[in-house]
Amino acid sequence: MRHRRHAVELASRGWQVTGIDLVPKALSGARARAQDAGVEIQFVHGDVTALGAAGVGSGFRLLLDGGTVHGLKDAQREAVIREVNEVAATDATWLIFAFAPRRRGPAPRGMGRKDIETTFAGWKVTDEQAVDVNLPGFLKADPRWYRLQRD
Ligand SMILES: C[S@@+](CC[C@H](N)C(=O)[O-])C[C@H]1O[C@@H](n2cnc3c(N)ncnc32)[C@H](O)[C@@H]1O
Repeated sequence: MRHRRHAVELASRGWQVTGIDLVPKALSGARARAQDAGVEIQFVHGDVTALGAAGVGSGFRLLLDGGTVHGLKDAQREAVIREVNEVAATDATWLIFAFAPRRRGPAPRGMGRKDIETTFAGWKVTDEQAVDVNLPGFLKADPRWYRLQRD
């Protein structure tokens, strides 16, 4: 039984879902999970720094980042905010999963509330929740979900 991830969970709850990933293997796994669950999801092979070029569409009321942006470089994060501003509805909610900021070698460098509010200007964090996920202790991940709304 494959783990049920965000896209499948949302689609089962009635959301019309578009999922994007840069890595074909991640997409094929997600497609298989959607098929197992019997839900329709539009999966797009593309880069979150170029959502428009990837053809994801627009008017999204919910954006969910389950751990991509916290691993990106500053310039990529700046591209993400430009793209998100184009594809998000005016009343959109944006959920971001992020490790606490710290150097972790090749593992995601994370971002905290301040980083998020500085980098994603025009959005404000309206909620923040620590998450209990089973991650190796050496990562000192202290992961959190952040909820953002346009400022
Ligand atoms: C922690 S996983 C999150 C998996 C899933 N999207 C979720 O929300 O549960 C991070 C994913 O981000 C993808 N990724 C990394 N950089 C990306 C980029 N620039 N554009 C699109 N996807 C990217 C990776 O391939 C990986 O599948």
